[in-house]
Amino acid sequence: MTTMEPDQIRVLIPADRIRERVGELGRAITDDYAGADEIVVVCVLKGAFIFAADLVRQIGIPCRMDFIRASSYGTHCSSSGRVLINHDLDIEGRKVLLVEDIVDTGLTLSCITAELMKLAPESLKICCLLDKPSARKVPAEADYIAFTIPDLFIAGYGLDMAGRHRELPYIGIPAS
Ligand code: IMP
Repeated sequence: MTTMEPDQIRVLIPADRIRERVGELGRAITDDYAGADEIVVVCVLKGAFIFAADLVRQIGIPCRMDFIRASSYGTHCSSSGRVLINHDLDIEGRKVLLVEDIVDTGLTLSCITAELMKLAPESLKICCLLDKPSARKVPAEADYIAFTIPDLFIAGYGLDMAGRHRELPYIGIPAS
């Protein structure tokens, strides 16, 4: 947490540490799904797009990629219009690995999980890049977590701040 990049971003997790950790997760997932013909990797847009792209290239099992869009607006699931979930997934009877960027309050993940379970997958596991357990408002647990972080607003490696910084190869704390 020492480097200050030109754009006033303090580096929290450098790119080489992310690469190392994604490799570890890929190996763990490969072991856990040993013998599976295929898994369906569902990437939650937009924030998980870089993580998912790196992760699937470290998984030694054929992956079918799919995508879901989630936008959170408040404190309730889609029934009340507060977390909007858009998808056209067909995952009935499939082994599904959901890839999410960050579990913060837990609301988005709990809503997505409930939605995907309605589609009757054979199994559903969750892999998230970042977990902020101290910010949790509703129960939400991932099976695989790359990094647990304090309750700080972060950006980079797919995550944005007001639409910016997704392209950064590291995870950092924007100055404002
Ligand atoms: P939730 O509060 O767990 O529902 O998180 C909702 C979404 O907010 C996440 O999937 C992220 O896209 C976004 N989010 C939460 N915390 C951060 C952050 O620190 N930086 C960037 N996006 C975040």
